[in-house]
Formats: sequence, structure tokens, C-alpha cells
Amino acid sequence: YSTTRVRNFSIIAHIDHGKSTLADRLLETTDTVAKRDMEAQLLDSMDLERERGITIKLQAARVLYRSQEDGEVYILNLIDTPGHVDFSYEVSRSLAACEGALLVVDASQGIEAQTLANVYLALENNLEIIPVLNKIDLPAADPERVADEIEETIGLDCSNIVHASAKTGIGINEIMESIVKYVPPPPPATGGPFRALIFDSLFDPYRGVIVFFRVVDGAVKKGDKIRFLNSKAEHDVTEVGIMQPQQVPVEALRAGEVGYLCGSIKDVLDARVGDTITLSSEYKAAAAKLKESKSEEEPIKPLPGYSEATPMVFAGIFPVDADQYESLRLALSKLRLNDAALSYEPETSGAMGFGFRCGFLGLLHMDVVRERLEREYDLDLIVTAPAVVYRVEQGEGEKKKVIVVDAPSKMPDKLRDMKIMEPYVRVEVLTPSEYNGKVMELGTERRGIFKDLKYMTPQRSSIVYEVSDITQGYASMEYQLIEYREGDLVRLDVKINYEDAPPLSTIVHVDAAQTVGRRLVASLKELIPRQMFKVPIQACIGVNVIASASISPMRKDVLAKCYGGDLSRKKKLLQKQAKGKKRMKAMGKVSVPQEAFMAGLQRI
Ligand code: GTP
Repeated sequence: YSTTRVRNFSIIAHIDHGKSTLADRLLETTDTVAKRDMEAQLLDSMDLERERGITIKLQAARVLYRSQEDGEVYILNLIDTPGHVDFSYEVSRSLAACEGALLVVDASQGIEAQTLANVYLALENNLEIIPVLNKIDLPAADPERVADEIEETIGLDCSNIVHASAKTGIGINEIMESIVKYVPPPPPATGGPFRALIFDSLFDPYRGVIVFFRVVDGAVKKGDKIRFLNSKAEHDVTEVGIMQPQQVPVEALRAGEVGYLCGSIKDVLDARVGDTITLSSEYKAAAAKLKESKSEEEPIKPLPGYSEATPMVFAGIFPVDADQYESLRLALSKLRLNDAALSYEPETSGAMGFGFRCGFLGLLHMDVVRERLEREYDLDLIVTAPAVVYRVEQGEGEKKKVIVVDAPSKMPDKLRDMKIMEPYVRVEVLTPSEYNGKVMELGTERRGIFKDLKYMTPQRSSIVYEVSDITQGYASMEYQLIEYREGDLVRLDVKINYEDAPPLSTIVHVDAAQTVGRRLVASLKELIPRQMFKVPIQACIGVNVIASASISPMRKDVLAKCYGGDLSRKKKLLQKQAKGKKRMKAMGKVSVPQEAFMAGLQRI
């Protein structure tokens, strides 16, 4: 057995630059998947993913390719990577499982911030990077300019850059040849114990957790007992195999190979992305040896780069109908089996009833979870405005107490020696230079601290800010948590009809409180439907009302506009009204629609 004809690679691309289309092409030209069986974009398997057109969970595929240069057959393992910043840890692990990466850039667009971040991750992992200009069939394609940009920003030699169109098939063979030629084969086995890096896992209701991994040393086969170094869980392997991309069992997987295994593993937490798989027997033998020599070392060294998933954004999820609480709990526990980065704990709120406080990697992750809950589990939910985690520090030195605040309503009232700390992120935005002014305006508006402006090429610049408030907006940019800093923050509460509505509380900067309060009550006034009585809405800090508005009582019903007897139109209006009612939550006597819970998001 030799690894000289194995190539492990991934594709780095910005969303929409054509990664999935290209992956399909690569599988198609190698006849890995018969054309008629080929569902468009095979690698993105979740429904939701296909609909949103983004890659969330990474998976892998193995293709055989006969090189035109030496006539030999090569095994090419394509390891897919998710494209969004929320999933950058998974990207880094899938890159660590490769020796090379295709950098796919839309020839009509140019390189984007997130792509750049992933290129840096690839370079850190010592990957060979093969640049590819995609979409050259488009009239707007400007391959020369984009090639120059890649050369100047990353320093890759682009003199022989592949011009491709994943749509029409131009350049696909050239890409295959480049992979064989430039991506190095995996290093040969060292003869050490079995070690493999997990780059993905998923829960299959029939077979339990399926673990996707890259073997770094040794071999694994059916019947082996494995141990996950980080979770310390042990399981018997009932199947090992490769992805073509459908799963095909094989005898064994050896150093350099990419494959999957399963073995009645019930919890994805046992097999987190980034953990190292070892053989139980080898681990025990190594441990016994170390015990003899009284060494404190780890029996088998874990592969580098494991990290716990830390949620950055929290929101409350409540069923509209209290009867659905049990179903929601079950649905969350099932989603969690697939998604180790999702966290949740029960939350009870006087106004909202029973629900869950959930932690997400970012806003996109939150949206995906919410949609899956509603779509796959048929739940009607109210999601409160997402908030970052604040830390409240009280006292100094030894006596210092730290409270972690993951919901605005949990923020204690401000005391004298209390410091409220907010997370700061470093944000890098890549933009055509003509928009520099606009981006910087935005940065200042968001209370960002300007750090750097670089011209990557005369037409393109990189702007760096340090910003708090990362839940604002869905901008396409690269961000990274740097630290917690003290902020002059207060809790802004909302009272509807003189009753507290804690899920509508937000945490704001003192100097913005007045503006935010006014906007919040104004938008709530618009969003909350009229009642039979007058409803006052107030924004308060502590006992002080800083802004107020009131909703006047209802006068007309929805059918008032329908003259005559158009029955179907009346029905439609009533249905529309019923649907609108569905996603509302009673706060005291007032029904508050979902949109109101998100109103805090658009507060500035
Ligand atoms: P994510 O999965 O969100 O990361 O996007 P992606 O990078 O996988 O992009 P995808 O393959 O879904 O392509 C995005 C759009 O570009 C689709 O509408 C494709 O049909 C189109 N597209 C991809 N490659 C080409 C190409 O070579 N030429 C043209 N004209 N369109 C292309």
C-alpha cells in the first residue's frame, strides 16, 4: 500500500463563486456519479442548504482520475468546506485534512474577505493552493484583472492560472491535471499508532453517528474498538468506508486516506469535529507503558487544533402554542445530535411561558436552526432578538465576581462598583475602493474603532475596524472575537400596557439609549396590532420612562374594506388574519407578533 497516488484537496470559494457547480463537474467528468443519477449539487445534501444555496455541513467525495500525463489512476478526495464565517472552525478542520486547495474566484467579481480568511487558514495548514478563475464564460469576466488581484493580495503565481467555467465545462480537465501535479501526496505512514482527524460527523437515525475523518497514521478496520481522545468515548466500529459520494464499505482505511466509520455512537458530542480517533488497544498499551515510566505525558498525542464550540449569539426560542413545548424540546435534542455547536437550556419567562435559551455560532447559524425547527418539525416559534454575551464584573481582585449575561433581561440593575463588559470583534471588510468612504461611515456609525486601511490593488481595499455589537446586520465580512472591554451600558426595558415585557429588553450604550428607546417604541407601535383598548408602550431604564407611545383602540375590522359579497376575497382576508395570529405571543392582555421581538435588531 502506498499513498503516492492519493490527493486530498478542498475547494475554497466565496459564496456564489461556483464551488458546488465545480464540485459537481469534477464528480461528473470522472464518472463517479452516473449523469442520470446526478442530482444537481450533490455535496450540499440538506434541503435547506439547497434552497439557500449555501454550504453548511461539509462532506467528502472520492473520485478516480486517470492522469493524461502518466496514464496512472489517482484517488482524489474532495473535502467540502462550508463557506460562511459562522463555520470557520469547521473550515479549518477540513483544511487540516488536506494537502491542497483549489482557490475558486469568480472572474467577474474578484476575491472576497471571507475567501481571503480561508486562504490564510489554508496557508497556515501548509496547503498547496491552486488558483482557478471561474465563470470565464460571463461577458463581464475580467480574468486579467482578477488574476492580478490574486497575485497582489496573496502572492500566488498566476501566470498559468486555469481559466474555467463550471457551467460550460471549460478547464475542468486542466483542474484535474493540476491537482495531480501540484497537490503533494499525503506523507507516508510513520509506523506509529492509529490516529485520524475528524472533519465532520452527522447523525443517522438508523446507524447512529457517522464520523468523517482523515487517517494520519496507522489503520482502522471493522471490528476495531476506537477511542476519541478528547471526549474519551469508546466505541466498536461496525463499518468503515469511503464516500463515492454515496457510502461504500471497505476493508480498512490507512494513513493518508479519507473515509467514514460508524459504530452505534449515539451522541455527536462523542465525536466532535477536530477530535482525534485512536485505537483503544493501542491507547491502553501506550498508557500502560507510560505508567511504568511514571511519565505524565499523554499516551497518544492528539492531532493539533481541537477547540470547543463557543456560541457567540444567544436568543430565546418559545413555542407560540404552549402545548408544543415538549415537541420543541425533542426537536432541539434531535438537531443537537447533528450540530454540536448548538447549545440550549430551558428558559421560563413570565410573559413568554416555557421555552429555551439557545446559543449559536452566529446569526446565520441561528436562522438555519430556526428554519429547520419550523420546517422539519412543524413548529410555530417566536424567536427573541439575538444578543451577544455580556460579562458583568463586580468587585476587584480576589473578591471579583463575574456574571455571564446571555439574555438582556438577566442583566442586573447597575450598581456602583459594577463593570459591564462587552465583546469586541476585529472586522475586516474588502471593498472596491470607491466604497471606502461608505464603509468607513458605517464603521463610525457602529462605534467602530478604525484600525487600518490598505489598498490591495488600486481598485480594491481592505478596511479593519474593532467593533462591539456583532449582532447588527448580516454583512459579508470576516470577524474574529478579540476580547471583552468595559462599556457604558444599560438595560433598556419595555412595558406594554404597563406590564414588563422582558423578552423585548435590550442592552444599549448610555448615550444611544434615548434614540434607541424612541425608535423601539415607534416600531413596536407599528408592529403590535390594535386592540379593543388603548395600549401604552414605554421604554424605561430602571424606573425612568425615556420614551413612550400608545396604540389607539381598534375601530374597524379587516372586512370593512370589502363591499358586496365577494366571498373568496373575504375568505382570503380572514385566512391572512388567522395566519398573522399564528406567530403571536400574549403579553398580558396584548398579543405581540414575531416581528416585534426582532424590532430591537433594527434599533439604530
Ligand atoms: P455556496 O454553496 O453558497 O458556497 O455557493 P457556491 O460557491 O457553491 O456557488 P454555486 O456553485 O451554487 O454557484 C452559484 C451560481 O453561479 C449558480 O447560479 C451557478 O449556476 C452559477 N455558476 C457557477 N459556475 C458558473 C460558471 O462557470 N459560469 C456561469 N455563468 N455561472 C456559473
